[in-house]
Amino acid sequence: MSNTVIVGTQWGDEGKGKIVDMLAQEAGAIVRFQGGNNAGHTLVVAGEQCILHLIPSGVLHPGKKCLIGNGVVLDPEVFLKEIDGLNAKGIDVSPERMMISKKTQIIMSYHRMMDNCRESVKSDESKIGTTGRGIGPCYEDKMNRIGIRAADLADPELLRAKIVEALIEKNVLFEKLFNVEALDPEKVYQDILPVAERIKPFLGDVSSVIQDVNKAGGMVLFEGAQGIHLDIDHGTYPFVTSSNTVAGNAAAGAGCGPRCLERIIGILKAYTTRVGSGPFATELLDETGETLQANGHEFGATTGRKRRCGWLDLVIIRETARLCDLTEFALTKLDVLSGLKELKICVSYEYRGEKISYPPQEQNGMAFVKPVYESMPGWEEDITGARTYDELPEAAKNYIARIEELSGVKVGIVSVGPDRAQTIVR
Ligand code: GTP
Repeated sequence: MSNTVIVGTQWGDEGKGKIVDMLAQEAGAIVRFQGGNNAGHTLVVAGEQCILHLIPSGVLHPGKKCLIGNGVVLDPEVFLKEIDGLNAKGIDVSPERMMISKKTQIIMSYHRMMDNCRESVKSDESKIGTTGRGIGPCYEDKMNRIGIRAADLADPELLRAKIVEALIEKNVLFEKLFNVEALDPEKVYQDILPVAERIKPFLGDVSSVIQDVNKAGGMVLFEGAQGIHLDIDHGTYPFVTSSNTVAGNAAAGAGCGPRCLERIIGILKAYTTRVGSGPFATELLDETGETLQANGHEFGATTGRKRRCGWLDLVIIRETARLCDLTEFALTKLDVLSGLKELKICVSYEYRGEKISYPPQEQNGMAFVKPVYESMPGWEEDITGARTYDELPEAAKNYIARIEELSGVKVGIVSVGPDRAQTIVR
């Protein structure tokens, strides 16, 4: 089995969780390589729903190693809460199978506080729509080289000194700019100590585990969060997340070389959704948009926010395919399109008087593109019971074929419902 990377091809919420969960059955280890607890994977197993924000979705498979890579920012309290919740459901998440890289950055209370302070002083137009979980400020400290890394939790003196250092500038901002009380470094330190004690047994060398799994002939599954168009460099900047979501970052964020990444699956929702602010060329502000929102239950798993909905945008998908070198798509939520008479696919954009096949690279360029659509007939049939490709209606097969033609990437997996069983592998 080839090492496999899973990425979201759009703006997140494509249903990565379900596909990761499915492929985890064949994996020796599952590793998360970027983002934090702003991800929200919803898994349904035998009718039971389970939402995970931080822990790799593969955790539901007994015995599989679940790894948190160095590219992740980890909120230790959220991590422990998820572990406790899973243990209470009888799912083993002991340190024997769960590991946090010693190099993983730790989200501290002051990161969450900074996130909320920053967003509160922004104008409505410039709000990024962050989830307020401290993820951006934690990545900032990492780049600023004052971040707390997981291994520091096992070194009390270093930890105390680093907290003091990290708060020097922040306390000035809290007091002078945001008019909130400065934090006492000693209190922050004392508060984190019991948490650190519980995190310690999970610390390890994730990079070596990946190598060992491969040496023993096992497959490693790299689980991406969010989507390619939220990538800090390649997304619709500045309405993006604070990490690289592209497939290449699976190597850097997990601790292996690029040749380790063999199969790259892009999770593609059959239509487009976006949470929060930012340009969205194919957004539907009409009844069809509402139908997609209602039929697809498009509410954020983490924030509960209503997702904006629109037609499938092949321009951004084409960009994803080239940025990530996708080897195939897993097409999800095809069932949600059932009942729509006409389906539209955006095949190119009109931008400053020209027709373009890839998104413009200028900031705000995406806000000025006009989608050029192709129209296709929809299908009436309920397809949630289809288990083979041949059982799909002709119109659904044509839709899939057109996606493949327009992107140059084959659709290897088709998902027709939230359950593990509602999946067609071609
Ligand atoms: P992020 O990492 O936050 O982007 O999460 P995600 O990509 O895993 O998506 P999320 O779990 O938030 O949303 C997907 C939702 O769609 C979940 O409620 C899934 O149970 C559901 N889902 C997944 N595949 C299908 C499908 O083929 N059909 C339908 N109807 N629902 C699906």
